[in-house]
Amino acid sequence: MKWWKKEKAGAQAAVADQDEKEAAELSDEADVSAVKQETAAARDLVLNRPVPSGPLMNVQGVVRTFQVGGKPLHVLKGIHMEVQYQKLVMLRGRSGSGKTTLLNMLGGLDQPTEGEIWFDDKPFHKLGDDKRTTVRRKDMGFIFQAFALMPLLSAYENVELSLRMAQVPKAQWKPRVIEVMELVGLGKRMHHRPFELSGGEQQRVAIAKAIAHRPRLLLADEPTAELDSQMSAQIMAVFKNIIQTEGVSICMTTHDPTILEVADHVYEMVDGKFV
Ligand SMILES: Nc1ncnc2c1ncn2[C@@H]1O[C@H](COP(=O)(O)OP(=O)(O)OP(=O)(O)O)[C@@H](O)[C@H]1O
Ligand SMILES: [Mg+2]
Repeated sequence: MKWWKKEKAGAQAAVADQDEKEAAELSDEADVSAVKQETAAARDLVLNRPVPSGPLMNVQGVVRTFQVGGKPLHVLKGIHMEVQYQKLVMLRGRSGSGKTTLLNMLGGLDQPTEGEIWFDDKPFHKLGDDKRTTVRRKDMGFIFQAFALMPLLSAYENVELSLRMAQVPKAQWKPRVIEVMELVGLGKRMHHRPFELSGGEQQRVAIAKAIAHRPRLLLADEPTAELDSQMSAQIMAVFKNIIQTEGVSICMTTHDPTILEVADHVYEMVDGKFV
């Protein structure tokens, strides 16, 4: 994932820009002290969140139609899916089949033309922009190409930024940033800026950034695409680990058959529908 690819995806980039602007407005500088107990308390809080009997995310009859040159382009043609609590769900399908379009919808970056998306028993498809943004920042984590790293911030500061945006108490920032940087194997690269990191290392910072605020749902578009097989396996182990220890649910796309093996459920997309 490279920050200069940012212009690629409209909705994702617009959201990233908005976050950047708001982050700049949050002026108070980090007076962080390592309060390990606070991190432990946050973990307990997350693990003790009530788990409803239904799925975390429930998608019913989602259709997404774009208007291109005055003509309708039917990209998603009636998607039904569920992401159960603490499960790893994968989407596979050919290029252009609609996977990213669907992930954008699940993350509230785009809204369905028809259909319903329920998140944590709330009608996500009916929420206004502000409410969707709040849910997105607090309860979701994204690993999307356009969710780029801030080029002038170090890896550490990039991860810290997502804790700020999620309004995590300041005392938890330092221990949590260190914890997730070590989880992705970058404990020794924390103070490098993105251009001082390899492509795979940047990708791992993006992963650390996406999971730092303990989201309920992690959405990831080809999160291991730029990693070698050993590092991909390590990242999948991190994903399995946070499902267990932090109660997160994950929905991701991949083309890698060895990665598909570790999914709890695989949805196969063909031309805007699951088969
Ligand atoms: N904003 C948009 N306006 C018009 N068409 C769009 C838009 N976004 C996506 N599409 C079209 O929808 C189709 C599905 O795109 P999408 O990015 O979801 O595919 P994908 O399955 O993620 O493919 P890949 O594996 O290559 O990432 C493509 O044909 C694309 O051109
Ligand atoms: Mg895609």
